Amino acid sequence: MYTYQDLQALQAQSLKLQGWIRRQTYSPELEKTLRRFSSWEVSELIFRVNQSTFRGRLAADPSLPAGEVEEDGRQRWFSLEEINELRRRMKINRKTLLPPRPQGKRAIRAAIANFKGGAGKSTVALHFAHAAALDGYRVLCVDFDPQATLSHSMGLSDVSEDHTVWGIMARDLIRETDRMNSAVTGAASGTALPQRRLPASVRDMGLEDLRVADFIQATSWPTIDIIPSCANAAFVEFASAQYRHLNPDWSFFAAVARYLDQIPDDSYDLIIFDCPPAIGYQSMNAVFAADVLYVPSGPGYWEYDSTTSFIGQLSEALEDLDAGFSQVSFPAGNAGSPKAFLDVRFLLTRFEPGNDLHRAMYDAFGKVFGDRLAEHPIELTRAVEQSGRFLSSVYEIDYRNMTRETWRRARATFDRAYGEFRETLIKAWDEMEDKA
Ligand SMILES: Nc1ncnc2c1ncn2[C@@H]1O[C@H](COP(=O)(O)OP(=O)(O)OP(=O)(O)O)[C@@H](O)[C@H]1O
Ligand SMILES: [Mg+2]
Repeated sequence: MYTYQDLQALQAQSLKLQGWIRRQTYSPELEKTLRRFSSWEVSELIFRVNQSTFRGRLAADPSLPAGEVEEDGRQRWFSLEEINELRRRMKINRKTLLPPRPQGKRAIRAAIANFKGGAGKSTVALHFAHAAALDGYRVLCVDFDPQATLSHSMGLSDVSEDHTVWGIMARDLIRETDRMNSAVTGAASGTALPQRRLPASVRDMGLEDLRVADFIQATSWPTIDIIPSCANAAFVEFASAQYRHLNPDWSFFAAVARYLDQIPDDSYDLIIFDCPPAIGYQSMNAVFAADVLYVPSGPGYWEYDSTTSFIGQLSEALEDLDAGFSQVSFPAGNAGSPKAFLDVRFLLTRFEPGNDLHRAMYDAFGKVFGDRLAEHPIELTRAVEQSGRFLSSVYEIDYRNMTRETWRRARATFDRAYGEFRETLIKAWDEMEDKA
C-alpha cells in the first residue's frame, strides 16, 4: 500500500536525481536562442514581397540593415531586430510593412482554451505567438497552465510560483482586500460591512510589493515576453479556494484582468493565453480576461464530444459567476458582468486532409458551429514534434534541417490558421470599446 508518506519518499528520491536527469536529457544548448531568417523567408514569407524587389531596395539604401552572409551560400540572414527595423523603415509600393493596430486601444487578448487535454492548445499558442511576432506585433504570452508547456517551449524552466498567475492572484487578493477595507473605513457611519482580515501567511509573502513588470519575463524572441508558469503553481487551485473563504467578496476570477489593465496600453499588441486542460481558478481568470476565445479541438468524434461539454461547462461557470457576483458589496473595477466575448472560434488541429473521418468531422463541426469554425484547420505535421530539450515551432526551425517540402507545408498550415486568427482579432479589436 502506498500512503502520502511513500509518495513523499518517492518525490525526495526523484528530487535528488533531478539534476542528473536534467543533464542526461538536455541538449548541449542550454539557452534557447532565436535563429536568423534568410532573405528568401524575409521577402516572400514575412513581408510577402517579391525577392528581387526586396534585394533591390536593400542594395539601393546602404543605411538599411544588411543581415549577415552565412558561409554556405549567398543568401543574407536577418535577425528579428533587423527585420523589424526594415519593417519600420521600408515601404513597398507605398505600402507600409507594419501590421494593422487600431489607434489608442490596449492590446487585444485571446485565450486558447479547451478543457480537453492534448487538444493542441499549447502548440497553437506557441505558433500564433511566433507568427504574430514575425508579422511585426509585440506579443505577451500568459501561461495559465502549471504543466508549463508554453513556458518550457519559450525557454523558461526555473520559475518560482510567486512570479506566475498564482502570484498575480495572491497579490490581487491583498490589493482588493485593502481597497475594500479602506472603502469601509472611509464610508459614512452606519455601514454594516466588516473589515476583512488576511492572515499573516498571506501578507508575509511580500507579493503586494511586486510591481507589474516583475511578473513579465523576456524570451529568446525580442518582441515576445511571457508570464510563465511552473509545476508549483498548481497549488493555486487549493490556495484560491482558501483565499475566497478569507474574503468572499473578492472577485477572484477577475484578478488577471485587473493585472493586465495595469500594463500600459502600448506595451504590447497581442496578449495570448495558454490555458490548462481543466476548469478552475486559473482557467476562469484566463477566460474572464479574454476578449476573444479560440477553441482548438482534435478532429475525432470524442474530441467533438469533449469540446461540446467544454462549452457547456464554461457557460455554466460564467452563469454562476454572474449570479454570484452581480450582488456583491464591492463590485470590482472592470469585472463587468455577465462576461461577453467579442468573438468565439473553433479550430481543428492535427487534421489530416487525406483522412475520411477527419473530413467528415470537419463538415460536422461546420454544420454545428457554422462560421464560428475556422475555415483552415491546422494539419498534422512532423515538423512540430519535440526535438531535444525545447519544443520548437516551425518558425524557429531552420528549414535546412529538414526537407524543404515538409517545412513549407507545416509553415503554410500554421500561416493560414494564423491569418484567420489575425483577421478575427483585428475585427474584434475594432469593436473593442476604448477604455473608459
Ligand atoms: N499540428 C500538429 N501536428 C503534429 N503534432 C501536433 C500538432 N499539434 C499538436 N501536436 C502534438 O500533440 C500533443 C499535444 O499538443 P499540445 O501540447 O499542444 O496540446 P494541449 O492542448 O496544450 O495539451 P494539454 O491539455 O496537456 O495542455 C503534443 O505532443 C504536440 O506536439
Ligand atoms: Mg498545453
